[in-house]
Amino acid sequence: MEAIKRTLKKYSQEHLLNGYDKLDESKQKKLLNQIENINFELINSLYQNSQKEVQIPETQITPIEYLDKEKLNGYYKSFQETGEKAIRSGKLAAVTMAGGQGTRLGHNGPKGTFDIGLDSHKSLFELLSDSLKEQGKKYDVTIPWFIMTSEENNNDTVDFFAKHKFFGYEKDKNIFFFKQGELPMVDTEGKILIGEDGLIKEAADGHGGIYEALVKNGMTNKMRELGVEWIFIGGVDNCLVKMVDPVLMGIAIQKHVTAAGKSVVKANPGEKVGVFCKKNGRPSVVEYTEISKDMAEATDERGELIYGESHILCNLFNIDAVERMGRTPLPYHTAFKKATYIDKNGNKVVPDGPNAYKFEAFLFDAFGELDDMAILRVKREEEFAPVKNATGTDSPETARELYKKFYKV
Ligand code: UD1
Repeated sequence: MEAIKRTLKKYSQEHLLNGYDKLDESKQKKLLNQIENINFELINSLYQNSQKEVQIPETQITPIEYLDKEKLNGYYKSFQETGEKAIRSGKLAAVTMAGGQGTRLGHNGPKGTFDIGLDSHKSLFELLSDSLKEQGKKYDVTIPWFIMTSEENNNDTVDFFAKHKFFGYEKDKNIFFFKQGELPMVDTEGKILIGEDGLIKEAADGHGGIYEALVKNGMTNKMRELGVEWIFIGGVDNCLVKMVDPVLMGIAIQKHVTAAGKSVVKANPGEKVGVFCKKNGRPSVVEYTEISKDMAEATDERGELIYGESHILCNLFNIDAVERMGRTPLPYHTAFKKATYIDKNGNKVVPDGPNAYKFEAFLFDAFGELDDMAILRVKREEEFAPVKNATGTDSPETARELYKKFYKV
């Protein structure tokens, strides 16, 4: 306790123990454990950075080359055969990033449990599992499925799967759950927040934490035991996500690259998607929040967007690359959010607007670590039906329509 108090004093975070005496024994233990695991230096520097004008380092952004799946002609078959062979021999694993909640959709629970309103009322998780099982059957193999949850939704997610008998999968044999990391939230003064439960208010550290989480939780070791060499990583909110694609895999294998990502043509310059590009000659994504208007609108001589290869969170990695990226720290992006907390006098504060910083790493910030990455342009109507907003674009309604059209249901 004395050591903890010294640390808190050093970083001016003594308030974290203000409510300690009022907690029951198990929460006291948990709080101390949380404090011991906080990297105060990191939190301090993230807070300091949030106070500075964002300095975008001098980077040279250039368009990235891509292959169009529709125009592979004679190569299509060859890529497909190479990929199929690898899939049939059990070299592929699928990972679904499902650390998020369905808050933006007005859904109370893990996003993957959301029902997009099909006649079958299947959840996003079930739609994904249907497609994974169907593909597995086609190649006579069970594709192992790894689900990334968060502290917040892990229990609800695993319970949901258990209730549905893991959709035919077997827990810890061919379906695995692992948690992504978390970081404390801090207020505008740099003080770490205490949540309503009296514990440190932590938030998921963004999907960039996936590489480290895969390694730390022993998932890449598990994959190696299963003979896996390639890992597809996709989001939970795209009900048309194609986790098993022999052509994509064949391209990665034949071109000797450690990663391959899928793109769709950006619908319009303002669409809220990141776009693939090269930063200082390395593969990268410029996020929609960071792209300039000029860059978003620039077109080539055919009138096509120069930065028009949308990143749809459908990427395939060699297992060695994932392990390497898991050892490389990523930068954190800061988001200013609304967070209910307990103040230093023990009173609950429900703010009207954003009051706290949340720190997140993005999966694609690691792409610069890769030697090269192949990009495959695919058809939007076949592979991209995201569910992000309650209404309008990328809503259950639009996703449902795309799903029905594609599966003819
Ligand atoms: C994301 C991408 C964007 C891409 C778009 C395609 C980022 C920062 N941007 O935007 O480049 O064009 O999707 O749909 O991701 N997730 C976790 N843990 C987290 C955060 C997210 O598992 O800590 C998962 C979510 O459950 C979801 C996916 O990652 O499956 C996407 O996250 P979201 O925050 O919805 O990203 P977008 O802003 O939509």
